[in-house]
Amino acid sequence: MSTDNVQIFDTTLRDGEQVPGCKLNKTQKLVIAERLDLLGVDIIEAGFPVSSPGDFESVMEISKLVKNASICALSRSVENDIKVAAEALQYAKRPRIHTGIGTSDSHIKYKFNTTRDKIIERGVAAVKCAKSFVEDVEFYAEDAGRTENEFLARVCEQMIKAGATVLNIPDTTGYCLPEEYGAKIKYLKENVKGIHNVTISCHCHNDLGLATANSMAGVSNGARQIECTINGIGERAGNTALEEIVMIMRQHPSLNLTTGIDASLLFSTSQMVSDTMGMMVQPNKAIVGTNAFAHSSGIHQDGVIKNRETYEIIDPAEVGVTESAIILTARSGRAALAYRAKKLGYELTKLELDKVYPEFLKFADSKKEVQNDDIHEIMKISNISTTVV
Ligand code: KIV
Ligand code: ZN
Repeated sequence: MSTDNVQIFDTTLRDGEQVPGCKLNKTQKLVIAERLDLLGVDIIEAGFPVSSPGDFESVMEISKLVKNASICALSRSVENDIKVAAEALQYAKRPRIHTGIGTSDSHIKYKFNTTRDKIIERGVAAVKCAKSFVEDVEFYAEDAGRTENEFLARVCEQMIKAGATVLNIPDTTGYCLPEEYGAKIKYLKENVKGIHNVTISCHCHNDLGLATANSMAGVSNGARQIECTINGIGERAGNTALEEIVMIMRQHPSLNLTTGIDASLLFSTSQMVSDTMGMMVQPNKAIVGTNAFAHSSGIHQDGVIKNRETYEIIDPAEVGVTESAIILTARSGRAALAYRAKKLGYELTKLELDKVYPEFLKFADSKKEVQNDDIHEIMKISNISTTVV
């Protein structure tokens, strides 16, 4: 069976960067954009040019710098936003304008105080305006997650007629359940005229911790672009994490879905974005957290030492992590102690191990984690010297 490519639309520099604490200067944005290009993302959403002169300049410089990825600029359904986005993208090899408007009843009533028909009119005008500047136009139906499917289908059909090449179906508030979001994409595939000529995109927020699951439900039902960020950063609880969806598709070949991402750069890219933004990655973060390949319970350590696959579904080298970590704590058993001791040059006999293990437990009970220095100390107390060079 042939595999389908899912386009990776990275919005670290737009949805990610707009978050408090994640602000970047132009030089930092350029460094990250270059790294995203190297990582193999298909589209880089570089910013929202009308929002500030700094954002405008960054989008323009990123457009000049990036060699492979399409460069996308955000706008509202406002003529001046679109003109400014087009100007910022003038040097991009593959420019894309991302324009759109809220489509849920809540947005129509409280944000725009207007009607459904007027929303469609504004969206159509925006897509036509963007199309007068660039060929590649993406339309976002903001709060599509809470938009009634029948109306959303009407919106999508009109945007395709106006010239949209990509339809973004954002779960802006992170409200949807995976089945619900998947069914929404399926409904659009089955009920929108012309839908087969455009790409459907998933843009899911993580307010209920479902962003990744919802994006996967989207592609399982026919979407072929996922909007995501490194480390899942983004508005409120964040966006779909790039590293998660990439590894889900790699770990499950039966999905028949691939991406162009070089997975071996995932860990270093995560660290680089975290360091540049000063936004720490939670240790238990899937794929890129410092504990993602660390084993601390004695039962797990024993298994991993015998064969890594007993407790690891991903080879850490695949995502650029040097090796699995065996953390020594009071929960560790003899196997973990012998393993670490061997790495430090002590090849312990069974008798020696029995002798040092109670000593090890004394250390372990007095601290969170036993370090290499402690092991040397334990060996000294137990009169054991290095045997391996
Ligand atoms: O979450 C959202 O709806 C967005 C749009 C601007 C695409 O970020
Ligand atoms: Zn968003």
